[in-house]
Amino acid sequence: MVANRYLPPWFSVAPMMDWTDHHYRTLARLISKHSWLYTEMLAAETIVYQKGNLDRFLAYSPDQHPIVLQIGGSNLDNLAKATELASAYCYDEINFNCGCPSPRVAGRGCFGVRLMLDPKFVAEAISVMAANTNVPVTVKCRIGVDNHDSYNELCDFIYKVSSLSPAKHFIIHSRKALLNGITPAENRSIPPLKYEYFYGLLRDFPDLTFTINGGIASIDEINSARMAGAHGVMVGRAAYNNPWHLLGHIDTAVYGASRSSLTRRQVLEKYQVYGDSVLMKYGLGPTLRDITKPLLGFFHSEPGNGLWKRKADAAIQTCSTIKALLDETLAVIPDSVLDSPLAESSCGRGYLFANMDSLLPPPYIRREEDDTMLT
Ligand SMILES: Cc1cc2nc3c(=O)[nH]c(=O)nc-3n(C[C@H](O)[C@H](O)[C@H](O)COP(=O)(O)O)c2cc1C
Repeated sequence: MVANRYLPPWFSVAPMMDWTDHHYRTLARLISKHSWLYTEMLAAETIVYQKGNLDRFLAYSPDQHPIVLQIGGSNLDNLAKATELASAYCYDEINFNCGCPSPRVAGRGCFGVRLMLDPKFVAEAISVMAANTNVPVTVKCRIGVDNHDSYNELCDFIYKVSSLSPAKHFIIHSRKALLNGITPAENRSIPPLKYEYFYGLLRDFPDLTFTINGGIASIDEINSARMAGAHGVMVGRAAYNNPWHLLGHIDTAVYGASRSSLTRRQVLEKYQVYGDSVLMKYGLGPTLRDITKPLLGFFHSEPGNGLWKRKADAAIQTCSTIKALLDETLAVIPDSVLDSPLAESSCGRGYLFANMDSLLPPPYIRREEDDTMLT
């Protein structure tokens, strides 16, 4: 149990399967010292069944703190055991996935976002996980599933989970999930964002903490979300697709650190040393492609970006080290891009959360049977 009021990360990079692996997190940490980094979702079963091989899945370098492990699953014993095994790795927080609509997880019994339909189970899961770790266990969810998408249903979920378990921090991907007929990628763009639901939760659950997620892509938007009251802001795709510009400003704009003189060339030099030190560490991997992948957004919108990506793709076939790959390809990026410190952040939709008060849904009305269920 967390004794004092829990302070959520002001800014975090979202868990993203196949994206926020150790390599991406290494790059992200070279750019931002303060951002909280979430791992990709790891199934509880993977942790339990790979007990003899845990470093491969759970180890990370100490400079990745603050770091959060996201676990997915629907078997209480495995969730408990996985959390216990993970506790040896000293993550700063454990997050439970209740938002993933991928058939890879949502179709396998009650897993991912389907769990939003069973808040009592989610509370049990959080409770068994919390019993096996000393760090906070938090929840990442959507604002609804299929036609269970009213504001009151979302509040019922939050109310039940927070009343029946130690979960006090909810990360809200502010769009619902559709379980049938669309792909996971479409599920991150087709259901509309309803930020007003998120801000309704802030009003109706003043004792809980909430991080907003979904569609936020600039420093102006991050600051605007926080000024409107969000305790924390989580960004996924923008932090992956454009890490230099997005993460580069976080320490200054969100955490008040002094402006850094870091250049992209310096980041690449450090990343190269890291990359070559882990290349093929586990026999079949990580491969050159695995380690190069997080760099593909590093020159986003800069001159030479497209050509560099094509050259890097070709060099993956011929080079045997990250150093060789960078030596062979970086000439197409102008020195002015490689050696300049971060430019001013470009303007985003700073108005995005400006008039939230006028859009809020009617206050949450708790049904009496919900209270009966809790007794
Ligand atoms: C490639 C990819 C993989 C993702 N994997 C996960 C995951 O493992 N767990 C999770 O909770 N969300 C996952 N998400 C969803 C993100 O965490 C985030 O909620 C979503 O992308 C919306 O935020 P954004 O608009 O800032 O990208 C994934 C998103 C992407 C793009």
